[in-house]
Amino acid sequence: MSPSQPATDDAADLPRHLLGLEGVSAGTINRVLEEAQGFRALLEKADKKTDALKGRTIINLFFEASTRTRTSFELAGKRLSADVINISASASSLQKGETWLDTVRTLEAMTPDALVIRHPDSGAPHLAARALDSHCAVINGGDGPHEHPTQALLDVLTIQHHKGPIDGLKVAIVGDAAHSRVARSQIHALHTLGAAEIRLVGPKTLMPAEAAPALGVQVFHNADAGLKGVDVIIMLRMQMERIRGAAVPSQREYFRLYGLDPARVERAADDVLVMHPGPMNRGVEIASEVADGPYSVILPQVTNGLAIRMAVLNLLARQRQSAGPA
Ligand code: NCD
Repeated sequence: MSPSQPATDDAADLPRHLLGLEGVSAGTINRVLEEAQGFRALLEKADKKTDALKGRTIINLFFEASTRTRTSFELAGKRLSADVINISASASSLQKGETWLDTVRTLEAMTPDALVIRHPDSGAPHLAARALDSHCAVINGGDGPHEHPTQALLDVLTIQHHKGPIDGLKVAIVGDAAHSRVARSQIHALHTLGAAEIRLVGPKTLMPAEAAPALGVQVFHNADAGLKGVDVIIMLRMQMERIRGAAVPSQREYFRLYGLDPARVERAADDVLVMHPGPMNRGVEIASEVADGPYSVILPQVTNGLAIRMAVLNLLARQRQSAGPA
């Protein structure tokens, strides 16, 4: 489908909201990826705008700090010609005692077509979606340590772009998977698309409690073993804001044991991709030579994020049908 064409017919069999990737079918994921491919091509042109969402309204409601995700959703909405409004918790009526669900209902009364919600609590976008009466789509922009679906979609788009189908690939996710919504969404997407192996690499203190059996991953506490022969390395940030107590002895020790330096990259496949959702802590989980080196696709991930968010908004923010002339 051309990115400037309405997606209404195809959107019929898509979920109404994008709350997470657990249980989302390969068909739906591939539908979003295909749509995003079209937008990637558009982003390479001088004129990057389409009028696909002209007249539609998108509200970004962020209850937690964000630079790239919020900017990416904002720009994606603007490239689609939607009216985009950003609200951050510090500037909202939450400061005046309103509950966040009342904020959501108040915003809904202003008839938006999509509400992008980032919240420090797991399940907050799900609650919001249940509270809404209209055709407004809720898109999860990251809920606590639970899920961050558009990040994982942009990651699989990036992997596909460089490696072809996900089917059969070996992927290592390295670092603080315990507190990472990105890792959870990635695991669901990679499984659904048929990755051969998903490895979680890190110290016991940073592995999710439900780790190996429930998530269908292999856990490695030794980084050199975990990286051996993998096609893709995804580094995670240590989520200091979610960690209670000392999960690692020191940042320097963490880097020595798990940091991605050029020698560790050598353990992986010759054409390995190095990824990081950002924001990255250079010298803590990744060496600058690697972050800026030949295998890194960290900046292309950001560009693909824009294409993915355009795709998701284009597919989900047009569910309200026009009633026609009065
Ligand atoms: C991530 C997030 O906020 O979950 N960043 C992002 O959205 N690109 C990862 C992180 O904070 O480490």
